[in-house]
Amino acid sequence: MTEAELVVVANRLPVDRDGEGGWRTSPGGLVTALEPVMRRAEGAWVGWPGQADLELEPFDFQGVRLVPVTLSADEVELYYEGFSNDTIWPLYHDVIAAPRYRRVWWDAYVRVNRRFAEAAAAVAAEGGTVWVQDYQLQLVPAMLRAERPDLTIGYFHHIPFPAYGLYSQLPWRREVLEGLLGADVVGFQRVADAGNFARAVRRLFHYQTKASGIHVPQSDAPARTVLAKAFPISIDAESYADIARRPEVQERAREIRSGLGGPGKILLGVDRLDYTKGIRHRIKAFGELLDEGRLNVEDVTLVQVASPSRERVDAYMQLRDEIELTVARVNGDHDTLGHTAIRYLHQGYPREEMVALYLAADVMLVTALRDGMNLVAKEYAASRIDNRGVLVLSEFAGAADELGMALRVNPHDIDALKETIMRAIAMTGAEQGRRMRALRRKVLDNDVNAWSRSFLDALAARRAMSEGADRE
Ligand code: G6P
Repeated sequence: MTEAELVVVANRLPVDRDGEGGWRTSPGGLVTALEPVMRRAEGAWVGWPGQADLELEPFDFQGVRLVPVTLSADEVELYYEGFSNDTIWPLYHDVIAAPRYRRVWWDAYVRVNRRFAEAAAAVAAEGGTVWVQDYQLQLVPAMLRAERPDLTIGYFHHIPFPAYGLYSQLPWRREVLEGLLGADVVGFQRVADAGNFARAVRRLFHYQTKASGIHVPQSDAPARTVLAKAFPISIDAESYADIARRPEVQERAREIRSGLGGPGKILLGVDRLDYTKGIRHRIKAFGELLDEGRLNVEDVTLVQVASPSRERVDAYMQLRDEIELTVARVNGDHDTLGHTAIRYLHQGYPREEMVALYLAADVMLVTALRDGMNLVAKEYAASRIDNRGVLVLSEFAGAADELGMALRVNPHDIDALKETIMRAIAMTGAEQGRRMRALRRKVLDNDVNAWSRSFLDALAARRAMSEGADRE
């Protein structure tokens, strides 16, 4: 097998089955984020094909070498659904749902992380670069360094990193930090996440930190410096703008508008069906505005796209039940034969359809209770080539650090959320234009290429530094 200079290691491969035995690029943030870089570098991508017990040989897909990692049905349950999505996910999102700490899940997490590390070690060229992605694989950097000290290793954390008071609940809090500190660069979404990580390292190991550098002593070698810093992720912004310029997409946006009852206002929510997204808070605020007669079902519709996610994890099943009950209640109370208050769609859609929806929506509601970044907020701005539309953005989403011209909201404060929705609906075209232009500039200037370039540049700089140190 040819060896790759750049290897990405992520829980999932960037492809899905297309229904006819072939593969197609899967939708979703991470994939869109890294695909362009990988194609340019003719790299390899190590990941799980998304189905239990699937044993596949490495194969090429659109210029990228894909290296599938097999997970048994047990491992999917213990490592993916269990430790990744029922322990780490809720803990790192500030325990919005209660994390469960189960030793058999941890054991499977260690085992599976080792398998990913071994697959990456086998495919990476001598002196190459490996870029590990996200919370499912926090142990991979140290495992990989132990096996292949010649590699330069980066890790990017796509979700929040919690404050020490919460992080310290984790029974394996030391092991996880040791895993991450195996990287040369540990990237986070927000400055606050990098700060929480550095504080946890200081509290548990008493290592010194200076600016973004963490001084990690080695038993048999000089100390290493690990860079822990914010690299806010983005989207392929120009491609969203390109889609929005297509006449058939604009026609589809008009069709969506007229299908929803013509001149009324459209509010839009687009999320994976996840308890971190604040979907209930959004529906509650909207429902109260209808109850109070401040909004009327004839004049306004909330379209909520909630794409199915992690459907075998209890907390997700419960959330689905709660949301569907709430939607049905609001609709039951307020619908007329001609108008529906909430159009709830438990489905995923192709990117073109999403852009048409973005173009059709007067107000985009991003009310996450905690979110690493939230790329939907960026997609909305990138798509609004007409400089219209209002973005309501939770201060608990990473995107809030950059998108200062959104209407900022604390989604826990239902009254404030209601006022913000009313303000968004009433906003003049001139103010919409002023705000949207600023948002678009931010997103177009800081796109996913800029993100991956800055991360990979930081990694290359670390390598140059350590090579310099070796020569001394
Ligand atoms: C978040 C995570 C990703 C994950 C995605 C979808 O964005 O940061 O690592 O891939 O959710 O979740 P799933 O469990 O379906 O991979």
